[in-house]
Amino acid sequence: MSDSKLAIDGGQKAVPRLGPYPPKIGREELWALIDLWDFGPGTKDKLKEIIRRDRNVRGPHLFRYYNPKPSRVAAAEEAMRRLIGARHCLAVNSCTSALVAAYRALGIGSGDEVIVPGYTFFATAATVAACNAIPVIVDIDDTLCLDARAVAKAISRRTKAIAVVHMRGAPAQMDALLDVARRKGLPVVEDVAQAGGGSFHGKRLGSLGAIGCFSFDYYKIIVSGEGGFVTTDDEWLYTRAQSWHDTAACWRPNRYARERRKGELFCGENYRMSELEGAVALAQIRRTDQVLAGYRRAKKLIKQAIAPRPGLAFRRITDAAGDTGICLVLFLPNPGLTRKAMIALQAEGVPAGGIYDAQIRDWHIYAYWDHILKKKAVARDGLPWSAMPPRELPKYSRTMCPRALDFLARAIIVNVDCHYSAADCAAIAEGINKVLRVMLP
Ligand SMILES: Cc1ncc(COP(=O)(O)O)c(C=O)c1O
Repeated sequence: MSDSKLAIDGGQKAVPRLGPYPPKIGREELWALIDLWDFGPGTKDKLKEIIRRDRNVRGPHLFRYYNPKPSRVAAAEEAMRRLIGARHCLAVNSCTSALVAAYRALGIGSGDEVIVPGYTFFATAATVAACNAIPVIVDIDDTLCLDARAVAKAISRRTKAIAVVHMRGAPAQMDALLDVARRKGLPVVEDVAQAGGGSFHGKRLGSLGAIGCFSFDYYKIIVSGEGGFVTTDDEWLYTRAQSWHDTAACWRPNRYARERRKGELFCGENYRMSELEGAVALAQIRRTDQVLAGYRRAKKLIKQAIAPRPGLAFRRITDAAGDTGICLVLFLPNPGLTRKAMIALQAEGVPAGGIYDAQIRDWHIYAYWDHILKKKAVARDGLPWSAMPPRELPKYSRTMCPRALDFLARAIIVNVDCHYSAADCAAIAEGINKVLRVMLP
């Protein structure tokens, strides 16, 4: 018979205890993870046996907030903050999310323009339109990154930011770009997706502009499968990016406080990083400099063994010490020869590829961004294009960035691996010399 005296009056508790119950995420999920690695069946069985024997293990809490254990996402943010040398760092689930959070933190919305390079993965520009703003596509130079003079010419009264992308592992001409931005009073958003860990004149990329955006998707330098980070020195921008990344949970210093200042409260989305990605990202961030040292060593060995010859040029590197070394870009005199050389290099086993071929669609080159060139809208409201008088919209065309098309059609990219041995590097350089001796006699 249950005690009728209420527990608050000293009676017996009706529910003395619940559980313990098995964790939400337990052994099966751990095995599912171990299965992602190509361990042989013997090793897998041994691992399973060891895990099976330990009965008292608690499962992981994969949500970064309200975590009874120290959050791996928070630890990754701190490691990334220190690596980049920024005051604040926010983990998100991709660089695409980081870019939207950055543009939103800057208050970018309909009727605004953001300058983007004609050579970048489409996400840099698509996210501008996703914020209902207009991407203004600007030409690049022989760094394969934004050309500062072209940027200066493209700035209008509607421009609200310049998105600088450090393409293919190497820093853009940041001094000239920051100078244009400073003179016009515009923030620079650095898209560091392809150059994580790189630097410009001693400062890590992502710490030079107002906000840095990083990708940790599997194809980048440091990775967690999917993932991204936002870095900034500005507490206000950090707070706004953080709010945007978590619906309207508005973490701020005091989560439930009223708005301290106009612009602190608004409705956001959900870009949170899970503890799984946080754990992988943390391990990768700690290895960044070791990984970069491997790329740089290999690239140097390959480049110094390539014989100079008339007609051969290299991509201009704005700061050799800050280049991540993930690839080497050669320019040949014309697109036809470039294509022939590229095929010959591949036949030699050199890990080479072209960048732009007018016959091959590629989301990294503005000429294929039909979504923007043809002003596509996701809804009947016609945004982002309908927010501006048609005559004030940019004049998009497939030939609007002639230098991008010229450089990219004449470029051969030689991919570098941080694990290449000296012999691998010598063989790759010899393969390049062999082909160029014939193609550029
Ligand atoms: C320059 C650039 N920006 C943004 C992105 C988008 O990154 P994510 O895949 O993390 O959204 C990429 C990815 O390829 C990229 O190369």
